[in-house]
Amino acid sequence: MKTVLVIGSGGRCHAIVEQLSQSPQVGKIFAAPGNAGIAQKAECLAIGDTEIEKLLAFAKNNAVDLTVVGPEVPLSMGIADKFAAVGLRIFGCTQAAARIESSKEFAKDLMKRYGIPTAAYEVFSDYTAALAYTQKQPLPVVLKYDGLAAGKGVVVAATRNEVQAALQAMLQDRKFGAGRVVVEEFLDGVEFSFMCFVNGSKVFPMELAQDHKRAYDGDKGPNTGGMGAYSPLPFITEADFNFALTQVMQKTAQALVSEGCPFCGVLYGGLIKTAQGIKVIEFNARFGDPETEVVLPRLTSDLYAIFNDVMDGKTPLITWSKQVALGVVLASKGYPDAYKKGIAINGLDKVNAQVFHMGTRRDGAQLLTHGGRVLLLTVLADTVAQAQNKILEEVQKIDCAHLFYRKDIGWQAV
Ligand code: AMP
Ligand code: GLY
Repeated sequence: MKTVLVIGSGGRCHAIVEQLSQSPQVGKIFAAPGNAGIAQKAECLAIGDTEIEKLLAFAKNNAVDLTVVGPEVPLSMGIADKFAAVGLRIFGCTQAAARIESSKEFAKDLMKRYGIPTAAYEVFSDYTAALAYTQKQPLPVVLKYDGLAAGKGVVVAATRNEVQAALQAMLQDRKFGAGRVVVEEFLDGVEFSFMCFVNGSKVFPMELAQDHKRAYDGDKGPNTGGMGAYSPLPFITEADFNFALTQVMQKTAQALVSEGCPFCGVLYGGLIKTAQGIKVIEFNARFGDPETEVVLPRLTSDLYAIFNDVMDGKTPLITWSKQVALGVVLASKGYPDAYKKGIAINGLDKVNAQVFHMGTRRDGAQLLTHGGRVLLLTVLADTVAQAQNKILEEVQKIDCAHLFYRKDIGWQAV
């Protein structure tokens, strides 16, 4: 039996751990650092997801057969390079390949050079020059901090005042750090997430999902890490899918090979279906969160085998349930801005859904909130409408005065 180490602490890692625990090949699972939900299936370690030297020593000393990386920060710090250098097996891309997510400028330049469809853009480090450029652009205009900002470094500015405030925060007050800003054309259309297992130029697609990034119903409020998701997507035709696979995902994988930084891991395309065709909004170098919590529950083949086959250059067996999976995030009131932690959560035992912990901890037997996004509940059903009805019943069973959730996840599919 194999020993696996999963790095991360959110709902995505919980879903990966859950799926790996169903593999007949997997014996022991460690999670670093994990969370209160992950602890039901894995042994949680007191090692943070960016403590690379400690993670490496642990994997070496505990005969870990495979390490799987959830979040982007350790990838962008070079965890995969460091593990590979000492012969440890790790599923996650190199630091150079992770630039597809960690640098918006790298990603945009790559798309421009290789003819991968995306929004027109310019990059700025100077506040005055950026402001002058935006004044010549039609509204809304999109401003993106060029670095990792946990999904919060993007502003879709609808007024000149918003443009100015966002540029000031990013380039003068350095709210996220010393990075530059990409000013981008606004794309109008329906967004969807396309995650693929990739090794070099080989691309193995997963089923599509859609995230809901705005905090409140009706896609109102600030951008968040994601408030809910569902899979599959009825509005993406076979022709759309084939275009996205060949003209976006395969082309990008091949571009990274040509640039000397081949990608091995999960490549995530944040795509948009516009009147002018499918275009890229962003790439991520890892599984999406919350998309993973609705895509992996539909996987009916062995995730451990998939990771290994992809890494070994073989064609993995990937099969899916035909059912719809729909997941709703319960977030702390105030998120994505300031929120309280340590609030009691009860009622989980009554829930008839898959429960993924995003930000929880335990104090004795009591489960407590411990993050902005706290829990995600996923149900499977035959249609999106049925899944919506079912999830709203289940979400109400969670007894915690300090949480809020969206009631319209999946609205574009009903
Ligand atoms: P990103 O972090 O790049 O995925 O951006 C977060 C969210 O901002 C996306 O999911 C979109 O809803 C929105 N967004 C980003 N870029 C654009 C764009 N060029 N046009 C329209 N919306 C965008
Ligand atoms: N759901 C968006 C992301 O994982 O970045």
